[in-house]
Amino acid sequence: MRIAPFKLERYFAPYEFSAPYLLCASDCESLSVAGLLQLERSQAESLRTLRLGYTQSGGSWELRCAVAGLYETARPDDVLLHAGSSEAIFSFMNCALSAGDHIIVQHPCYQSHYEVARSIGCDVTLWVGDEHDGWSLDPDFLTRNIRSNTKAVMLTVPHNPTGYLMTHPTQRAILDIAAAHGLWLFSDEIFRFLEQDPAQRPAAAADLYERAVSVGGLSKTFGLPGVRVGWAVTRDRGILSRMTVLKDYLSLCNGAVDELLGAIALRHRDVLHSRNLDIVIANLHLFDDLMARHRSSMSWQRPQAGTVGLVRYTGAGGTAQFCREAISKAGVLLLPSAELEFGDDHFRVGFGRINGPQCIARFDDFLTATR
Ligand SMILES: Cc1ncc(COP(=O)(O)O)c(C=O)c1O
Repeated sequence: MRIAPFKLERYFAPYEFSAPYLLCASDCESLSVAGLLQLERSQAESLRTLRLGYTQSGGSWELRCAVAGLYETARPDDVLLHAGSSEAIFSFMNCALSAGDHIIVQHPCYQSHYEVARSIGCDVTLWVGDEHDGWSLDPDFLTRNIRSNTKAVMLTVPHNPTGYLMTHPTQRAILDIAAAHGLWLFSDEIFRFLEQDPAQRPAAAADLYERAVSVGGLSKTFGLPGVRVGWAVTRDRGILSRMTVLKDYLSLCNGAVDELLGAIALRHRDVLHSRNLDIVIANLHLFDDLMARHRSSMSWQRPQAGTVGLVRYTGAGGTAQFCREAISKAGVLLLPSAELEFGDDHFRVGFGRINGPQCIARFDDFLTATR
């Protein structure tokens, strides 16, 4: 298979573990194994005596039950575990799409949402939200762009990188259009439960529509990307069984330690996501002050959910150059929109880390010095 490099991941590679001020990460503050076991001390012995053999290919029943518990209607049989949601994205596209198909993808987005389709030989239409209206999506765009070979709509709810949270009416309208045309609705919900106003949380797509595939995982909301657990949830048994077959060629099964730690995390999910949401909100307040101080060179639509936001840079030069200077002069890592294949006017910031205050202060100093 031939696939273009994943720009964001390659951009991060040299910096992610060395940049002193990581201000664009999309994951939340992580925990140590000891920190996780603090939530359920009895599991320390289970971890010590855990057998490190192969695990069930669909995922342990216990963990599938825990994942199903995140949804209104899903049963454990509707859940397929993966080694991270990235694997679920790759697998869905390879199972649902063929060369010559067309898909419509909310953009900017995680590159795999369209790059895997391109590698299969699909046509891709990028669906960019309205920046002036908080990056909202207009369902009429979808109607206008559906072709006879359109097979799927790819969404990220809540959205990375803008923090846009789809409204209930917009979600309903998109689902109705998808249903009318028999399209797959792929909904990447890895930032779910990080809505600043939980009343605005859209339903999981898999709870609403037979041909929806909701994808989630432990990496973002729960702050555990080192526990490689992601999942796909759908009522469509056909796609789930094709993805199960493909998994035999991918990770084969999840790590036994990951499954055990993942089940603990989901049993204590409220503790984890409310801790992480508190971190995000505190960092956002600090960033609000920064934005107010530097409004001559930056503007944004404040994120409503998730861990990231997209800032429009209106100063001199493009954001690729601006971000290069931020890392080289101040050690602050930002993500220029070019790495998201989204022009050169924006950069992504992230709010999920506990050292957010230091990162924001450092960025503030950098902006002041370069004014
Ligand atoms: C929208 C989105 N989906 C999926 C992923 C992949 O996450 P993981 O494979 O760690 O579950 C990411 C990672 O940044 C992401 O931003």
